[in-house]
Amino acid sequence: MSSEPGFKLIERPISRRKNRNSKNLWKEKSAEDYKNIIDNLQTVIKNSPYYAALLKALGAIPGDSVKYIRCLALGSPTSTTGIHCQYQLALLIILLDHFKLAAKDVTAWDPVFESKDLDLLKLYGFDVVEEVTPGDGIPDMTEWLYYMPHAPHILTERVLKAVDSLPRGVILGNDLLTFDTRVIDEGEESTKDIAFVRSISKQLVEGDKDSNWAIEQIPNFPLKNANWMTAFYDMSVHIKHTR
Ligand SMILES: C[S@@+](CC[C@H](N)C(=O)[O-])C[C@H]1O[C@@H](n2cnc3c(N)ncnc32)[C@H](O)[C@@H]1O
Repeated sequence: MSSEPGFKLIERPISRRKNRNSKNLWKEKSAEDYKNIIDNLQTVIKNSPYYAALLKALGAIPGDSVKYIRCLALGSPTSTTGIHCQYQLALLIILLDHFKLAAKDVTAWDPVFESKDLDLLKLYGFDVVEEVTPGDGIPDMTEWLYYMPHAPHILTERVLKAVDSLPRGVILGNDLLTFDTRVIDEGEESTKDIAFVRSISKQLVEGDKDSNWAIEQIPNFPLKNANWMTAFYDMSVHIKHTR
């Protein structure tokens, strides 16, 4: 190999990058790896402005009224696109601590759960069950908090109806004050068969004094420094009272 006059040919050094890269070969994360990630995310959430707003909203829930948490529509925290679900799972652990519950008091279900999600939830000690009914060792469904981050409207309809038929209950899920504005954006299809959600939403919007439902909104925080905040967008605490 020759070089032009005036130019010195510099041979490219044998790259060490190749070796470095071979050490950093992509390794599939285990359920334990995901648990470590999610444990760290709890600290991230607690250090964020969202946390103070969350605590304020949870403070509106009458004391001792949450003995069980039913987590629905979490999504798959171990999927490659599961970053939001990881934050939402981290929030589930925060809720558990907040209400001083044990892992046995939490059940979860999402049809998308894959085997690694099940392994992860098992590491936390949560039961994964599609249906939970009284008699499964759970005596009183009035002491439940349904945690349903960005659940499909049709699922919200079902759970809202179920909780409405009980003396009390709590749903941390899709904000029902801004519900109508959002579903209009999502198109007609998503508003089918959700008459009950619409009626409770209307009561809340109109501040109906006879409503058995109250809402404690959690504001959306700007994306500026934390793009994961969308994991908690448009979610509020809804409380069913007996009058
Ligand atoms: C819009 S995604 C929300 C996923 C995640 N929580 C998020 O915010 O990115 C709705 C989720 O609801 C789940 N889902 C649908 N029907 C359900 C049911 N009957 N029970 C529990 N989860 C359900 C879907 O599988 C999906 O993961």
